[in-house]
Amino acid sequence: MEIIAIANQKGGVGKTTTAVNLTASLAAKRKHVLLIDLDPQGNATSGTGLDKNELALTMADVLLDGVSLSAATVRSPAGFDVIGANRELAGMDVTLMGQTDSHELLKKAMTDLIAEQKKPYDYVIMDCAPSLNLLTINALVATNDVIIPMQCEYYALEGLADLSQTIERLTELNPKLHIRGVVRTLFDARNTLARDVSAELEAYFGDTMYKTHIPRNVRLAEAPAHGLPIIAYERWSKGSRAYQKLAAEVIKQSR
Ligand SMILES: Nc1ncnc2c1ncn2[C@@H]1O[C@H](COP(=O)(O)OP(=O)(O)O)[C@@H](O)[C@H]1O
Ligand SMILES: [Mg+2]
Repeated sequence: MEIIAIANQKGGVGKTTTAVNLTASLAAKRKHVLLIDLDPQGNATSGTGLDKNELALTMADVLLDGVSLSAATVRSPAGFDVIGANRELAGMDVTLMGQTDSHELLKKAMTDLIAEQKKPYDYVIMDCAPSLNLLTINALVATNDVIIPMQCEYYALEGLADLSQTIERLTELNPKLHIRGVVRTLFDARNTLARDVSAELEAYFGDTMYKTHIPRNVRLAEAPAHGLPIIAYERWSKGSRAYQKLAAEVIKQSR
């Protein structure tokens, strides 16, 4: 079972879009996948067709009340397993302040999941919030693999130092933490700046950069309103094909 966190401290860079559509594309390739929503905004949850406020159990129950991951898992209308999130997850930092194991609650829950599952997942994909809060820290302690979505704009380069620093700081808690891949999102090949930034990211990250660029594609923005991943909403759109290519690259990295 490979666990992958989708993280970037910047908001609006396509983390949730990548988490939902990478999961759906992996599932379409017959992989057994679980999507975990770790953002109190619950966008990944609603993006798979679930009503985030109607779930009996969510990640808040897992992290705050010790409910098991398997108990909180539901089958989403999108056709794969999801553990949802909603605003109940927002108070976690305050609630768990001072609890010594607060950063490894998810790791412990994941160990239990591995022990008890009958049909093991091939991949667990975690959608993180745009901040380095306790939830994101839990994700980056529960796995060694991070995928970082990046928008090719000037601020992406400015954010690189922050990002490296964050990973560096977290290796104190998880020495094996590393970037599995960086994926260019919301990409517009006609934009000169986007092409320049893309080249700079390539120079900086080298082989850690996925070859697939996710284009800016309005279908990708529309799909969540229908509670569908892009592959179910418009299978042959540019955005859908890009996420299927990305999934193939992710599978190729598997040991
Ligand atoms: N490739 C894309 N093309 C068009 N719109 C996109 C694309 N990726 C994301 N979006 C839209 O941009 C906004 C931010 O994306 P989102 O995935 O929610 O980012 P994050 O989770 O990093 O905050 C959303 O409205 C989303 O639908
Ligand atoms: Mg998000």
